[in-house]
Amino acid sequence: MAGNSFGTLFRFTTWGESHGPAIGVVVDGCPSLLSLTEADIQPWLDKRRPGQSRYTTQRQEPDQVRILSGVFEGQTTGTPLSLMIENTDQRSKDYSEIASKFRPGHADYTYWKKYGIRDYRGGGRSSARETACRVAAGAVARKVLGDGVTVRGALVQMGPHTVDRSRWDWAEVDNNPFFCPDPQAATEWADYLDGIRKSGSSIGAVVEVVASGLPAGLGDPLYDKLDGDLARAMMTINAVKGVEIGNGFEAATLTGEQNADEMRAGPDGEPEFRSNLAGGILGGISTGQDVVVRFAVKPTSSILTPRQTVDLQGKDTDILTKGRHDPCVGIRAVPVGEAMMACVLADHLLRHRAYARG
Ligand SMILES: Cc1cc2nc3c(=O)[nH]c(=O)nc-3n(C[C@H](O)[C@H](O)[C@H](O)COP(=O)(O)O)c2cc1C
Repeated sequence: MAGNSFGTLFRFTTWGESHGPAIGVVVDGCPSLLSLTEADIQPWLDKRRPGQSRYTTQRQEPDQVRILSGVFEGQTTGTPLSLMIENTDQRSKDYSEIASKFRPGHADYTYWKKYGIRDYRGGGRSSARETACRVAAGAVARKVLGDGVTVRGALVQMGPHTVDRSRWDWAEVDNNPFFCPDPQAATEWADYLDGIRKSGSSIGAVVEVVASGLPAGLGDPLYDKLDGDLARAMMTINAVKGVEIGNGFEAATLTGEQNADEMRAGPDGEPEFRSNLAGGILGGISTGQDVVVRFAVKPTSSILTPRQTVDLQGKDTDILTKGRHDPCVGIRAVPVGEAMMACVLADHLLRHRAYARG
């Protein structure tokens, strides 16, 4: 199976399956002399960890990371970093009933067609368990970016319910189980998602990720544009069905006047933008404004209502998915989106150093 690596200079490769003994990531291209310990990575994994509220899967994984290589006396050595997370709470029997059926909305059918074999235990390699590895790589990427750059994510829509942006408060994101920046919306979403969860159903969501403190100049046009790489990064996350940069699809409804991010001379001689509809990227290169990416996450496919499908013999059957599942996978996709953003930016920062003028 190819396609397990991401990035150019800051490049990571993930390995492992949902119900194997462990999962992990090898990060290559991380510069030397960055301070790095397991304590730098663990908080980000804890944010993604399952079983933290009734709104996420009850699979209990401690997600303890171990650094196996690439660090000496608390500093990166410039050699490959190998990070490992043990799987401890696999319940493969949850999946034995569906071993011979294809779950709608999952990768069961496509993996079977492509490889002729599939690890039906939790989806094997296609499981979002793999996203823990991305989060670990993202923690390293944050080190490369340095303290001056922040990468933050939030859930901005659950089903039809959006946040009120006038109430946006980043400090609220860690005060509710949804990573929601609008405290009122978070309260409303709790009742809404309880209803969804109790009925055994699921719902989609939209995640927004914002990077601040970036220099102008990141991105390599034409085919390695920063927005192109971000879109690809987000689309590789499980269950993501659409990506927007800045005002995204809304740009199609605006006039040129409305959509212009006008500029004025700033006090230090650098231009100042009067808005950021472009999402901090022009011509594939960062402007120095916030980089803003949104992505749509589909509803969890594993639901308790029986759905029509076929079995390995090609016969009609029905399936309902037991086991432990997130009623809204968009919630736990927030730290994953942050991690992918951090990895893309770290990669482009290193590439920028290689090609930047002067
Ligand atoms: C953090 C996260 C957790 C997920 N958990 C589940 C889950 O519990 N049940 C489920 O059916 N899908 C879950 N998914 C989505 C599936 O992994 C995904 O839909 C499936 O592998 C098919 O891939 P695709 O939707 O990208 O085509 C999760 C996705 C993410 C990002």
